[in-house]
Amino acid sequence: MQRNCKQSILTTCFCVLQQVTCQLMLAVGTAVIGSLQFGYNTGVINAPQKIIEMFYNETWFDRYQEPITENQLTTLWAISVAIFSIGGMLGSFSVGLFVNRFGRRNSMLLANSLAFISAALMGFSKMGASWEMLIIGRFVVGLYSGLSTGFVPMYVGEVSPTALRGALGTLHQLGVVIGILLAQVFGIESIMGNATWWPLLLGFTFIPALIQCGLLPLCPESPRFLLINRNEENKAKSVLKKLRGATDVSADMQEMKEESRQMMREKKVTIPELFRSPLYRQPILIAIVLQLSQQLSGINAVFYYSTDIFTKAGVAQPVYATIGAGAVNTAFTVVSLFVVERAGRRSLHLLGLLGMAGSAVLMTIALALLETLTWMSYVSIVAIFCFVAFFEMGPGPIPWFIVAELFSQGPRPAAIAVAGCSNWTANFIVGMCFPYVANLCGPYVFIIFTVMLLGFFIFTYFKVPETKGRTFDEISSGFRQTAASGAEKHSPEELNSLGADSQL
Ligand SMILES: *[C@@H]1O[C@H](CO)[C@@H](O)[C@H](O)[C@H]1NC(C)=O
Repeated sequence: MQRNCKQSILTTCFCVLQQVTCQLMLAVGTAVIGSLQFGYNTGVINAPQKIIEMFYNETWFDRYQEPITENQLTTLWAISVAIFSIGGMLGSFSVGLFVNRFGRRNSMLLANSLAFISAALMGFSKMGASWEMLIIGRFVVGLYSGLSTGFVPMYVGEVSPTALRGALGTLHQLGVVIGILLAQVFGIESIMGNATWWPLLLGFTFIPALIQCGLLPLCPESPRFLLINRNEENKAKSVLKKLRGATDVSADMQEMKEESRQMMREKKVTIPELFRSPLYRQPILIAIVLQLSQQLSGINAVFYYSTDIFTKAGVAQPVYATIGAGAVNTAFTVVSLFVVERAGRRSLHLLGLLGMAGSAVLMTIALALLETLTWMSYVSIVAIFCFVAFFEMGPGPIPWFIVAELFSQGPRPAAIAVAGCSNWTANFIVGMCFPYVANLCGPYVFIIFTVMLLGFFIFTYFKVPETKGRTFDEISSGFRQTAASGAEKHSPEELNSLGADSQL
């Protein structure tokens, strides 16, 4: 069946449509609400920064009878922004505790309690005159987001038929960027980004949570969980029949069993082993550095603080420029969905890093010349748009792709946990430090990102192999060879796989 689906665009469409059942759409659509939540809470504190800072200022004065200092305010706000990533890190580490015990669907259901708690904390923080509530709320919604980034791709992958797995998997990424965009639009002053409604803007997260809670009970549990974790073959079969809209699901059952047998064969690698074994040392280093390249590129400086950045760049309507960045982000995510599958991961990552570095230089020039040339504020908008677009072409999607492709079944869960941890840690560092560094460096803050981007470019150029279309054996033998000889550029297998590549 999969083979038929490769013949032509028309037959592909037909094959694909045949496999999209209502049950499948419901399951995937409901799960992706979790991705939307992650994006929403990434973008939501951007637009109302000034207004919430004013609330902090007033609350501080009422409590201590003295004005808050500039430094204290920066600290409180940076914590409110960045504590989200601490929650995210803990959440992403806890995914494994839930999915195998409660099942994928019920884990998502349980996680929504976190979304409700955080919505209440943030939504009532103004009423309670407490920034502590807002900060704890951000932490809790970070926990939820960390869990979601584990749950959603897993569930979507496990309910989708093989031929659609890649396409439906990208919906997670799309959900995230649409969530960011949604938050930016709601943050417009005349919608919810004002002194009266900002608590609702932050508390809004309870509405998607409510919808997801209503829909999840109608969604099936993952057939893979039922079969492999629970050993309930009949239940798995009946779920699969509904999902596929077919009576014969033996091929799917066979595939799952084969996959689990393969997993049994390969011993699970623990995190310490990952660092101790010389076999994994090079790949795990690459995985970590690529995750760092995603976050330290400065992308979240833009998604957390772009309104502030645009204000400083003299843009008249900073909130609309922020929304523009969100729209560019969404558009280029769609573009990259089509490109990533076809192009080499390594070249795309290099292109993205270089493009981002160029945009950061442009941004620096714009900020530095702002005093003399007022039209530089438009240049700053263009620079940020390019920055975001190049991010979505390379450093956005590629690090996750490569991590999954560098490791086989045995070490993959541990590698993904390490990668996730490095990602959230770097996310925290950027969220926490950017306001201070921006105050300190003024217009030259993007130079720091330029330097890091170029550093990551050099690392990728010399250390990261192309993973597309190569098996784990080929990739790891490549590592062994570089470790042994160092100078050898292309092994025969590499050339073979390159040849095979161009035929695809
Ligand atoms: C806090 O509010 C007061 C009164 O509106 C204002 O004068 C002061 O500049 C504010 N402080 C900060 C750090 O923004």
